Amino acid sequence: MEKNVLIIGGTGKMGQWFANFFKYKKFKVKIYGRNPVKTKKIAKSLGVDYSLNYVEDVKNVGMVLVSTPIEVTPKIILEVAKNLKKGAILFDVASIKHDVLPALKKAEKFGIHTLSLHPMFGPGAKSVKDKAILTIPVTRKIEVLKFVLKPFLDSGAKIVWVKDAKTHDKMVALTLALPHFLNIIFGKTLSTSGFNIKKIKDFGGTTFNLQLILAESVVQEDPNLYASIQTQNKYFIKVMEELFNHANNLKKIVLNKEKEKFSKFFLETRKFLAEDPEFKNAYKKF
Ligand SMILES: NC(=O)c1ccc[n+]([C@@H]2O[C@H](COP(=O)([O-])OP(=O)(O)OC[C@H]3O[C@@H](n4cnc5c(N)ncnc54)[C@H](OP(=O)(O)O)[C@@H]3O)[C@@H](O)[C@H]2O)c1
Repeated sequence: MEKNVLIIGGTGKMGQWFANFFKYKKFKVKIYGRNPVKTKKIAKSLGVDYSLNYVEDVKNVGMVLVSTPIEVTPKIILEVAKNLKKGAILFDVASIKHDVLPALKKAEKFGIHTLSLHPMFGPGAKSVKDKAILTIPVTRKIEVLKFVLKPFLDSGAKIVWVKDAKTHDKMVALTLALPHFLNIIFGKTLSTSGFNIKKIKDFGGTTFNLQLILAESVVQEDPNLYASIQTQNKYFIKVMEELFNHANNLKKIVLNKEKEKFSKFFLETRKFLAEDPEFKNAYKKF
């Protein structure tokens, strides 16, 4: 298998991250971007080649990575698949898989090999050591999976095999959409309190300070990506309903000053979280 990769969306945040990563792993890297001036400039700064016409250029490469916004990824996958040579590899890194997996399955009909990755880290990651990469294999060819995943495994990444798009989207509704949602609401609630953040911080304790770090990090991310992560994941609707259900129950308990019910709610939550092997260390880390 040829160690060359063309990255569509290679001018974007994750595209650039992957360009650097594959370059470091001795791949010949080409990035595609729609704006020639911007693409040439970024390619130069990364020290990689560029493409201004992916439909043409994918014909000559062994591997294509689609790193474009979630909504356009399925369309690009199908466009690329038609033009790839037989036996080539195509994969994406989109954060929601509902529409991506059917496109990758269709793409396999063109005699290519496909798989879907979701790196559980952002473009700021300095290394992949101990970082999870959710992986949905479409191809059954073990040598293809090994070829794509080896560079990540060699650098200490943790490959988490995922059965299908439904499992992926259900789980990331809990691990991405839910914490993003809670942290945005936390920040928003502070913003309507009538106090400025500096004043609020003066009164902050350990829990508040940690929560603030999380909220401040979340709101520095790309609002378009974060909107997609919440609006494109159909399983997040159920999670939001559960969240509001629990919030309303706890609100009633608090308003009615029902201390016993509060303890029950609290201890039930503790019992669930205590199953985490890291549970005992949590307070120490905190
Ligand atoms: N950022 C993260 O933390 C993160 C983490 C894991 C996975 N992901 C996934 O990675 C993918 C890319 O995310 P990102 O954060 O890198 O986004 P990004 O910075 O906005 O980059 C996406 C790139 O795609 C290109 N693009 C946009 N619309 C396009 C279209 N219609 N056709 C062709 N190219 C188009 C744009 O490049 P040009 O305008 O130069 O063509 C843009 O730079 C997404 O699917 C996201 O879910 C992101």
